[in-house]
Amino acid sequence: MLNLITRAVPVRQQSIVLIGFMGVGKTTIGELVAKKLYRSFIDIDQEIEKHFGMSTTEIFKVHGEEVFREYERKKIQASCELRLKIISIGGGAFMQQEVREACLNNCTVIYLDVSWEQWKERLDILIDSRPILQSRNIDEIETLFHDRQGVYALNHSKLSVDDRSAEEVADHIVDSLKTAWDLYEPH
Ligand code: S3P
Repeated sequence: MLNLITRAVPVRQQSIVLIGFMGVGKTTIGELVAKKLYRSFIDIDQEIEKHFGMSTTEIFKVHGEEVFREYERKKIQASCELRLKIISIGGGAFMQQEVREACLNNCTVIYLDVSWEQWKERLDILIDSRPILQSRNIDEIETLFHDRQGVYALNHSKLSVDDRSAEEVADHIVDSLKTAWDLYEPH
């Protein structure tokens, strides 16, 4: 586990960043965790869509992935400076080194893990809104899924979402955060 405590920001005030492959449930779970911890929620994909005034699929078509990634990086870097937020970032964002540094150096990073077997059942409902999936066949998507695992392994805490509801995952996150806060920063 990476170090959470040699930081300028006290552990209890650090924002929580949720990472993981597309469609793992970062937004749904992030909203629930935010409610349970009385924090506000930032969904980076929604912020990007608001900024460009169009869907992610359209941003990729009109402006290209590079423009999307640049704004994504800036938005995450700025959001990671804030305290007491719950932040959900897109599945590809963590592939950028500057994003990893901003998240890992300032926030508590939780990786939501899903098995390939369970994830592939979600493909049909994801494909229309995920341009990264539209340009690949199923074998290429599986390769991308496995290739990204090494980077997602850079986290402070990992949690499997397999066979768990969003509510159960959110409760588990809240419990483990409270345990970590009590350990590292007893009242
Ligand atoms: C992407 C994931 C998406 C979104 C964009 C690119 C990726 O976010 O940022 O379509 O490269 O994995 P979700 O992880 O919320 O689906």
